[in-house]
Amino acid sequence: MPGDRGAPPDEEPLIGDGVTLGITRVADTVRRPVRPFTATIQAYLAHLRQAGFSDAPKPLGIDEQGREVLSFVEGDVPREPLPPEATGEDVLAALAGLIRRLHDAAQSWTPPRDAVWATLPGTEAIPPVDIDAELVGHRDYCPGNVVFRNGLPAALIDFDLARPTTRLYDIANALYWWVPLLHPQDRTPALVSADISHRTAVFADAYGMSDRQRRDLVPLARRMVHRFHLTSRAAAEADPVFRRFWEQGVKDRMPRAEAWLAQEGTAIAARLTTSRDRTTG
Ligand SMILES: Nc1ncnc2c1ncn2[C@@H]1O[C@H](COP(=O)(O)OP(=O)(O)O)[C@@H](O)[C@H]1O
Ligand SMILES: [Mg+2]
Repeated sequence: MPGDRGAPPDEEPLIGDGVTLGITRVADTVRRPVRPFTATIQAYLAHLRQAGFSDAPKPLGIDEQGREVLSFVEGDVPREPLPPEATGEDVLAALAGLIRRLHDAAQSWTPPRDAVWATLPGTEAIPPVDIDAELVGHRDYCPGNVVFRNGLPAALIDFDLARPTTRLYDIANALYWWVPLLHPQDRTPALVSADISHRTAVFADAYGMSDRQRRDLVPLARRMVHRFHLTSRAAAEADPVFRRFWEQGVKDRMPRAEAWLAQEGTAIAARLTTSRDRTTG
């Protein structure tokens, strides 16, 4: 009903990071607005399940109101700033294992010819840094897109930004949010003086990163963080939601992250390539 902001009694509004409006829970399902990329993402989610990865929403088609239907994933979803219990090394290792299993399941999917992928508003002209795609990855591991059970990451939700990418780019995205690859002043209090090189190595070992991925990570992460800066500024110019994020701190956080990574990158790379459990490749 136009102007009626109240959800029907059997619908519980779900408010995440405030990007997607109109998400509701109905019993054990979630309803989300249909976007141009919805059919592509539902096909991807269906493939993941066929390939044995079930730690993501199950695609359930379109409801009678024309909304996307997904299974509701039980658990707790943290918000920024990350709570202290979501900052342990066991959390990083569990997330790395989850992403490794997602990648291994995604590897065997070829997107349809008419696949449609999302872009943030106003960012179409900014060149990507994840070229030479290997698979379709999640690409948006912000805290609000990770479901915890028993204190550890157990499932991934919100595949809106999934698209063809590299394993390394997807890993770098997760590291940015969870290690995190941020200047100390922009981290959650529990991680202000964290050993970022060590935390990166914990993730790398749990994922089973190859020698080549370890060598290429820091240069790629620097290009990714620089691009985040460009895309968040462009999105802020194009869209009021992203303008709010920009004004509320992104405009300072991104240049600080770039400068910090330029300084700390060498130490992170050195620690990664001397870390013990690495695989070859
Ligand atoms: N399938 C799902 N299962 C469980 N919770 C969900 C699901 N989809 C969304 N949510 C909840 O709703 C919030 C917002 O949904 P999300 O799809 O992440 O939208 P946004 O684009 O706004 O980030 C999530 O952070 C989560 O708490
Ligand atoms: Mg989300």
